[in-house]
Amino acid sequence: MRTPIAADMTAVDAVIRARLSSEVALIGQVAEYIIGSGGKRLRPVLLLLSAGALGHAGPQAHELAAVIEMIHTATLLHDDVVDESELRRGRKTANAMFGNAASVLVGDFLYSRSFQMMVGLGRMGVMQVLSDATNIIAEGEVLQLMNIGDAEVSEERYLTVIRYKTAKLFEAAGRLGAMLADAPEAVCEQMAEFGMRLGTAFQLVDDVLDYSGDVAETGKNLGDDLAEGKPTLPLLRVLSTGSAAQQAEVRRAITEPGSADFAIVMEAIHQTGALEYTRAAAQAEAQRAAALLASLPDSPHKQTLLQLCAFAVERRS
Ligand code: IPE
Ligand code: IPE
Ligand code: MG
Ligand code: MG
Repeated sequence: MRTPIAADMTAVDAVIRARLSSEVALIGQVAEYIIGSGGKRLRPVLLLLSAGALGHAGPQAHELAAVIEMIHTATLLHDDVVDESELRRGRKTANAMFGNAASVLVGDFLYSRSFQMMVGLGRMGVMQVLSDATNIIAEGEVLQLMNIGDAEVSEERYLTVIRYKTAKLFEAAGRLGAMLADAPEAVCEQMAEFGMRLGTAFQLVDDVLDYSGDVAETGKNLGDDLAEGKPTLPLLRVLSTGSAAQQAEVRRAITEPGSADFAIVMEAIHQTGALEYTRAAAQAEAQRAAALLASLPDSPHKQTLLQLCAFAVERRS
């Protein structure tokens, strides 16, 4: 999927590496540990493809793509502390490796460094988009924290959480690509919605993979969400369509985290088709995303954006 932007992605990686520099040794160590362990780099890919599909190329796009990936990385450092996760990108999480304090503080370093880079670009519109996005992501994570242990969460409230915590950064990436290309406001809006829908599909599938993924492919442990009592769509579906016994088991899994038997909950999820239901919701979002590209001129970048929509739904990693 990176073919039309392969050279750009190499440049983005060089920008990230250069901007991680700090005289404080632990910062470099932790930042290099998580950034060097890979990751799909989807958000910079989306920004570059969005810019490229609208005819823009240049160093500003590399800088901004690096900013977006650094913000994403900061959220992961914080998220793994909050979720008490132990595996990320096929390695021990930074919190497992260096402790919670180091993870939170280096996350702060990455956030603030990315804002320094934005200021360096000198574009108020860009700063507006990214400061709004990071603020909404924080709201999403706090909203989700409030939902933990709550079996009364509606699908709508769940959707708000995933739009905030995940889709918002995809939305920013799509919008910024269009802004770099000096596209008209209506087109910027369209690419923003594209990102938002793609990001929603992406998180829906993340929540499927938490129950069904292969650790070797996702690089994350299975069952983290259940262990935490996180009411994601697969569980909400059992709560609305499962038998009384299945509902009771899932309700207990949410309200008394750690109490549930993963195998029993998994059985209920399978019998109710909850993963298929969640994947279908992702498919619908991805289709709406793809439809938003109809008016764009054809190009390898546009074709790759379409592939991204398929990937968001079919992915196993
Ligand atoms: C993980 O995002 C966090 C979610 C929003 C689900 P990615 O799956 O894009 O993580 P990396 O960067 O590829 O590791
Ligand atoms: C996405 O949610 C978190 C962020 C947006 C930072 P998850 O908690 O599901 O992400 P993973 O599964 O830990 O990657
Ligand atoms: Mg998490
Ligand atoms: Mg997850």
